[in-house]
Amino acid sequence: METVVSGIRPTGNLHLGNYFGALQNFVKMQNEHRCFFFIADYHSLTTHPTPADLHGNVRNVLVEYLACGLDPEKATLYVQSDLPETAELYLFLNMNAYLGELERCTSFKDKARTQPNNVNAGLLTYPTLMAADILLHRASKVPVGKDQEQHLEMTRTFANRFNRLYKVDYFPEPIAFNFGEDLIKVPGLDGCLKMSKSENENSCIFLADTPEAIRKKIMKATTDAGPTEPNQPKPQAIENIFGLMKIVSQPATLLHFQELYNACQIRYGDMKKQLAEDMVAYISPFSEKISALSSDYDYLRKVAKLGAEKAHESAAKTMREIREIIGFKAF
Ligand code: TYM
Repeated sequence: METVVSGIRPTGNLHLGNYFGALQNFVKMQNEHRCFFFIADYHSLTTHPTPADLHGNVRNVLVEYLACGLDPEKATLYVQSDLPETAELYLFLNMNAYLGELERCTSFKDKARTQPNNVNAGLLTYPTLMAADILLHRASKVPVGKDQEQHLEMTRTFANRFNRLYKVDYFPEPIAFNFGEDLIKVPGLDGCLKMSKSENENSCIFLADTPEAIRKKIMKATTDAGPTEPNQPKPQAIENIFGLMKIVSQPATLLHFQELYNACQIRYGDMKKQLAEDMVAYISPFSEKISALSSDYDYLRKVAKLGAEKAHESAAKTMREIREIIGFKAF
């Protein structure tokens, strides 16, 4: 049995990219491993949410974790800020993280470019906070999408550096993980490579979306006038529609539209109608469970309390040992 840690930032509702990149793997892994899945609310502070938004978003993610099949008896489900040990380990790791390597991180460079008026220290040290989440439970596997690969590489660097500095073999080297295949990137409806709420809300299918919302968004998805020669390579926007169909439709459906495309007979209106129906069938069981759970405050409170207790037990042990290794000793 291995220790598994992962989290999702609460920024609204979870989308299909979060599900296929991360959550789907959480659900599978909870049966086989010692799992810690948390809601990364400290991380979301880089964008300065209001207190009401922050709380509402944390609640949404908790509801969606449960609606997707995470079982609080099997996995430890907790809210990151219920575990202040995270902040202490973050502080220790920051002492051995260097400005150059943090500045070179792709996600930092992207954010510095897209939000030049809010390049805060939390953004710069985002990878050390993430490493703290992972190392706090001494995890070896981290189920994440492709966009988190570099953060995992940095976590390994920080873990190894700590081990070398204190001449211990304390932290394992955690790896980014996806069940049975390479890390994935779910494409957006807007022709962008990645479905992403922060880049474009309209590129996303949310797990809480109603059938009407799904149909409307998919019918509006970016397409073009269609191929003019047989077997032409697909432009990115068209590749994305096929990519989404690959995820939620039957293989025979995908093949049918692939053949029409190759023969220059494709009608994107028909393809999008089919994709919309398959998407509605895929999402509906989630959205129904989400609306059933979202007003059950008593249950949510119980789940969060249980998770905080279990996570605290693991974190307190690690922090006791780390303090000892570093040399914080009682008189
Ligand atoms: P976040 O909140 O941006 O995304 C949560 C998870 O969803 C995955 N994901 C995708 N996967 C495939 N295709 C997409 N279009 C797509 N969009 C999002 C992400 O790869 C991620 O796995 N830093 C993390 C949260 C975090 C964390 C951690 C993760 C904080 N501490 C410790 C693992 C371990 C983040 O911002 O993910």
